[in-house]
Amino acid sequence: MEPLFDGHGRKIGDLRVSVTDRCNFRCQYCMPADGLPWLEREQILSFEEIERLVDLMVRMGVGDVRLTGGEPLVRREFPLLAAMLGRIPGLRDLSLTTNGYLLERDAAALADAGINRVNVSIDSLQRDRFFQITRRDALPRVLAGLEAVASHPELRPVKVNALGIRGFTEQEILPFAEFARTTGFEVRFIEFMPLDADHEWEPEKVLTGEEIRLEIERHFPLVELEREPSATARVYRFADGAGTVGFVNPVSEPFCSDCNRIRLTAEGKLRTCLFSLNETDLRDPLRAGADDEELEALIRGAVARKELKHRVNEPGFIQPDRTMSAIGG
Ligand code: 5AD
Ligand code: SF4
Repeated sequence: MEPLFDGHGRKIGDLRVSVTDRCNFRCQYCMPADGLPWLEREQILSFEEIERLVDLMVRMGVGDVRLTGGEPLVRREFPLLAAMLGRIPGLRDLSLTTNGYLLERDAAALADAGINRVNVSIDSLQRDRFFQITRRDALPRVLAGLEAVASHPELRPVKVNALGIRGFTEQEILPFAEFARTTGFEVRFIEFMPLDADHEWEPEKVLTGEEIRLEIERHFPLVELEREPSATARVYRFADGAGTVGFVNPVSEPFCSDCNRIRLTAEGKLRTCLFSLNETDLRDPLRAGADDEELEALIRGAVARKELKHRVNEPGFIQPDRTMSAIGG
């Protein structure tokens, strides 16, 4: 099949699939305390439907697939889905982003299913502050989940994603740097984006990657590593020893011009940007019996209209209705 190009000449190689909008955490920057109205069972794509769409997109040149949520591991039989996708010919990399709560239970099954890499979201290494941000007292359990992943050498590299929020993250920077130096987990700081349910994001609340990096450098000199153009993170190693830290700076240093991603939501909408204000439904055509050519045309049409860039830093920016949990991080 022809490779998938957008209207700005970017070759699409990366697909994020949200397998559920539900989550067992209530992170301040993502969900309201009471949760959101969840999708009904029949609204979300079945495993077979996800497999069909992913297979089609892999044939169109998507090599990297990341499974997300909500929290992907709350979807029943999730490892079975991972195994179905892991068998798709041409799929190079199958990865998972999770909050880690169920990883002790699932790490072995995920490794067996052919997941290559796992990212675990942890915003604080202090139990009370972890509770404050996620509204769940779950840090010990998440750290145990991380250890469970570490015990499977097939699951590498293991990354820990920490959000950069001004007024919160400052105290976490050095503990995370030490953590990266001593554990072998790559800690990546991600800038807070306007995708929170409570619409409390403001530019001032973004603790930028550069600010965090400078704070780390005051204690531990860093050396930047080379990266692929479509990589979202700037990655550094510690000059004096083991460990790496990364910075994903979508707000302060947008990487849209190299963006090669698209996203599929749990209910089968194709989104071409985190901040898209419109999306393309693939579920209803799929369920109405569309053949591969029809689905391919819908996907190519949506991708052709992929946004040039996000407008988070521009006046008149409109936050999408969906929160991160309903998009897939
Ligand atoms: N801004 C940036 N990242 C976010 N995530 C969730 N909400 C936001 C937000 N508003 C991240 C989580 C997780 C990934 C799935 O998305 O921290 O790492
Ligand atoms: Fe759940 Fe992830 Fe949103 Fe936290 S950020 S509430 S773990 S979906």
